[in-house]
Amino acid sequence: MTKPLEEMRDGQSIELLKELHILTRDGKINQDSRRKLKQVYHLYGFVEPLLKDLQASGADLNLVDHGSGKSYLGFIIYDLFYKSLAGGHVYGIETRDELVKRSIELQKKFGFENMSFLNISVAESVQARQLPAKIDIVTALHACDTATDDAIEFALARDAKHICLVPCCQAEVAKTLKQNKAKQLASPMAEVWRHPIHTREFGSHLTNVLRCLRLEASGYKVTVTELVGHEHSMKNELIVATKIEGPRKRIGDRLDYILNELGLQELQKRFAPAVRADLN
Ligand SMILES: C[S@@+](CC[C@H](N)C(=O)[O-])C[C@H]1O[C@@H](n2cnc3c(N)ncnc32)[C@H](O)[C@@H]1O
Repeated sequence: MTKPLEEMRDGQSIELLKELHILTRDGKINQDSRRKLKQVYHLYGFVEPLLKDLQASGADLNLVDHGSGKSYLGFIIYDLFYKSLAGGHVYGIETRDELVKRSIELQKKFGFENMSFLNISVAESVQARQLPAKIDIVTALHACDTATDDAIEFALARDAKHICLVPCCQAEVAKTLKQNKAKQLASPMAEVWRHPIHTREFGSHLTNVLRCLRLEASGYKVTVTELVGHEHSMKNELIVATKIEGPRKRIGDRLDYILNELGLQELQKRFAPAVRADLN
């Protein structure tokens, strides 16, 4: 059969793509699935070198995908990378029971032994003992609202070497800017978010800025790029972080400065450079 997408790799399971409803029963692909698949492949292009780096360093290759949904990403990563390995494990974290059940069904059907799905929230996963204390790589593709922040919390708590995030819209920062607007209006800076549409857009931009600072303050080297061209998706920012050193106080101070200047002190905990989880 010819490949429905040029990005497809040799040896990739067409049957799996059919079961994920990315391909139709007769191997065709519709516009929506094409877009999703391109996005997942593109993300895989970033994840693969990180996995190879971990492999070269002898790491266990424990990967956790947060807000896994139908688990396109986890299954494609498993099919392309983990399937041929003796070890490593891919975990999917998802709150919708029916999606977790379906993913477990598929995992069994394809004999993907080193793959598990947990029906818990990302926030709950931070302390969850069903997951190894040390996780090597964390992914979160469009995990809703603050689930991306919880995924960062998880990654920091489990000392992840690599983190790959494509955030969804986060409402919390914009909501806090809105709530505190009246108090901030005396400052000319408040003009930046005075109009409601600017509150929303600035809030969304600021959220990702604070996420990056949180990661940098925790010792990660961070790169921020576009996942795919804007025609493919509105939620398109890709944040890739790699742990290179210990906590950096100077960056933490800059983060605190921004929160103070914008009257967002109550969000300090949300963006605090976190410490390792105590799982003993
Ligand atoms: C937009 S979908 C993305 C799914 C998948 N990552 C993808 O890109 O195809 C977001 C998923 O995250 C799940 N989700 C949202 N908040 C969550 C939370 N706090 N904990 C775990 N899962 C969550 C939703 O149920 C949904 O399946």
